[in-house]
Amino acid sequence: MQKKKDKIIIGNWKMNPLTIKEAEKSFEDIKKSVSYVRKTTIVICPPLLYLEKLKKISRKINLGAQDAFWGDVGAFTGEVSAEMLYNAGIKYVILGHSERRTLGETNELVNKKIKGSLSAGLTPVLCVGESMRDENHSYFNLVKTQLEECLNGVKKTFASKIIIAYEPIWAISSTLNRHDATSVDSREMAIFIRKVLYDKFGAEASRIRIIYGGSVNEKDALDFLNNGGVDGLLSGRASLNAKKFAEIINIAENNF
Ligand code: PGA
Repeated sequence: MQKKKDKIIIGNWKMNPLTIKEAEKSFEDIKKSVSYVRKTTIVICPPLLYLEKLKKISRKINLGAQDAFWGDVGAFTGEVSAEMLYNAGIKYVILGHSERRTLGETNELVNKKIKGSLSAGLTPVLCVGESMRDENHSYFNLVKTQLEECLNGVKKTFASKIIIAYEPIWAISSTLNRHDATSVDSREMAIFIRKVLYDKFGAEASRIRIIYGGSVNEKDALDFLNNGGVDGLLSGRASLNAKKFAEIINIAENNF
């Protein structure tokens, strides 16, 4: 039987907002609404440029990056390493998000970044998910391959540090002609992901958090947390609205 874990709510701000002033305002608003939170882990992943300033505002809200380079230091123009993020007090990093995969990121590259992030001391949030569902259920195989290739060579001792975010691309708010995923969709994939993780890491797999992302909002958050087989949520659009994001956190804090 899997042990019950406190929930984790992660906000992925993507390339928003346009100014540091707006970022600070949003962050302050969220901070005010979550002062009572004790159990739920809160993480916000703003654009890289805002991390350092936001870091000073709250100790309760953890910060994450939306990507990290695999090397630690050296001649890699334009890159920021996991080690640099760690040294700046950042704890989490989203890796393999579908929007980065669209820009050419492969499982192989994500794998290097996962290893780099783990050895730097960050908690990687590995995003997996299919772009569409078919009658033959081949999307299960696709997610299995993503997991196997992205986690290739990762040691068992690191397993509990990893978070897997199941994000069906067809449900993400920015996807054209998107449609809603249900908590049943989430649950069946979460069970499948857990099985793949067991095959790889054995009993350690029970310590890995699996979360759901894809247009989560304050109306369906409870259903996903209750029935989606997940330990938390990864929210994009809703996390840009301080009130909505705080409501999602509130739901996680008060119902589990
Ligand atoms: P969304 O984004 O909540 O806006 O669908 C989730 C994500 O892409 O991480």
